Amino acid sequence: MNEHESKNKPSEREDELTLTNRQGHPVTDNQNVRTVGNRGPTTLENYNFLEKISHFDRERVPERVVHARGAGAYGIFEAYGKAGDEPVSKYTRAKLFQEPGKQTPVFVRFSTVIHGGHSPETLRDPRGFAVKFYTEDGNWDLVGNNLKIFFIRDPLKFPDMVHAFKPDPVYNAQDMKRFFDFVSMSPEATHMITFVFSPWGIPANYRQMQGSGVNTYKWVNEEGEGVLIKYHWEPLKQGIRNLTQQEANEIQGINFNHATVDLYEAIERGDYPEWELCVQIMSDDEHPELDFDPLDPTKLWPEDQFPFLKVGKMTLNRNPEDYFTEVEQAAFGTGVLVDGLDFSDDKLLQGRTFSYSDTQRHRVGANYLQVPVNRPLKRVATNQSGGQMRIEPDRAPAQNPHVNYEPSSLGGLKEASKTGKDHEPHYNAKLVRSPIDRQNNFKQAGDTYRAFEDWERDELISNLAAALVQCKDDIRERMISYFTEADTDYGRRVAEALKEADMSMAANGQGKASADAAARKAEQEGHE
Ligand code: HEM
Repeated sequence: MNEHESKNKPSEREDELTLTNRQGHPVTDNQNVRTVGNRGPTTLENYNFLEKISHFDRERVPERVVHARGAGAYGIFEAYGKAGDEPVSKYTRAKLFQEPGKQTPVFVRFSTVIHGGHSPETLRDPRGFAVKFYTEDGNWDLVGNNLKIFFIRDPLKFPDMVHAFKPDPVYNAQDMKRFFDFVSMSPEATHMITFVFSPWGIPANYRQMQGSGVNTYKWVNEEGEGVLIKYHWEPLKQGIRNLTQQEANEIQGINFNHATVDLYEAIERGDYPEWELCVQIMSDDEHPELDFDPLDPTKLWPEDQFPFLKVGKMTLNRNPEDYFTEVEQAAFGTGVLVDGLDFSDDKLLQGRTFSYSDTQRHRVGANYLQVPVNRPLKRVATNQSGGQMRIEPDRAPAQNPHVNYEPSSLGGLKEASKTGKDHEPHYNAKLVRSPIDRQNNFKQAGDTYRAFEDWERDELISNLAAALVQCKDDIRERMISYFTEADTDYGRRVAEALKEADMSMAANGQGKASADAAARKAEQEGHE
């Protein structure tokens, strides 16, 4: 009998379904607390009751500070061995990409961003697309979103941005006045806002959306040479589908968990969603010929100059067995890279890289990497010890158990040998606090506006008007000036739609200005 069988063997008093407590004691009465007489009072030595209620009291861990609502699934990533027509080894020595057909297990968590753990999945919001690859060299996390760009480019602004987008600290509801107050003071967000307020801001579900690493990373080959890389996930057979605001409202009226249910049910019925992983590649330099900085996460790399090169395919084919254990405790981070993959100098990426493991030590605990979903599928051997909820030592079987330090001559762990030349970028610049040079905040927003189909532009204008009508005049004016800089038609249409929205509010309200508009003015004056 192995250890697992002996653990699960019922005692003579039990069968396979007998309820026990966590100490293994069979529970004979799960309906009545122990009391002095059947009307109480209760007694405090009642271990079963105390264990049950005090565990219940601790069922929640802090939810993620962003991306709290999510759904997860397991699957397989299969490499093509190539990046487009070239052997992938020209650019990276990462083992998971090398041989055609090589399979790497993955776990994926999709999410919405701003609202809490049980908020509707129909809300206008970017969607998270985080992938953990359990590679032979250890874990690699590609923590992306559905959209290919981001609101800001400096990590110092992230907590302010999230505060402005999250519910108001006084009355706990999201408020477009606060949202657009921040955005109108952050012109670099214009491009992202153009996506988020279009139908691309409400993907139909998690299966039918794209994914992107957003930030610029690097690939490093055997010679230690680096190239700049952007990652993109393209849905295969299931395609891409986005919702109009009206469609989202209708779905939300009957089911605010539709994306979670859609993913779970598709996998249960064997209709496995698939995505192709593509990369865009640029040489590792500043590219002065471009009108944007390749490290700026508010920019797309134009596909005609930097084509999407296919490098592999991911299929999701297994649902988790326990939501909390596997999905809620899952921890992804941008610092989790394997040999052959590297960071770029993208400031936002470097800020993110501190933030993820920091929050996970708080959210899940110091030993979050021992939770099975986060643990590599390969061996782990560290000299780290202790911490709350340590499940097992990270000891190698051959290791002298007395030696939990390195270096040692007494049979402790030893450093690994190097696999290729180190990538050693050279720096010679002043240490400064300064924005990047090629900010170009509006041009690509205009390109994106013009690239939309008519119905997408119509939706964008009406969604923006519905949000901006709640904002005070100077916020509206700043936003319209940004849209106009992006494309004069864009700015003009938002301004006209806003006038109409004001008029219809007035018509539905009392006299010249509606009560809402009057309240907006009063509040504006009150706070100035
Ligand atoms: C989650 C920070 C930008 C995608 C999180 C979490 C933090 C965070 C603290 C919660 C993690 C957890 O509790 O496990 C930041 C900071 C950013 C930033 C400081 C910028 C400075 C981005 C960007 C993307 C992104 C640009 C898209 C590429 C995600 C995703 C998750 C997440 C997908 C959820 C991961 C999961 O499913 O567990 N972020 N983030 N974040 N972030 Fe970011």
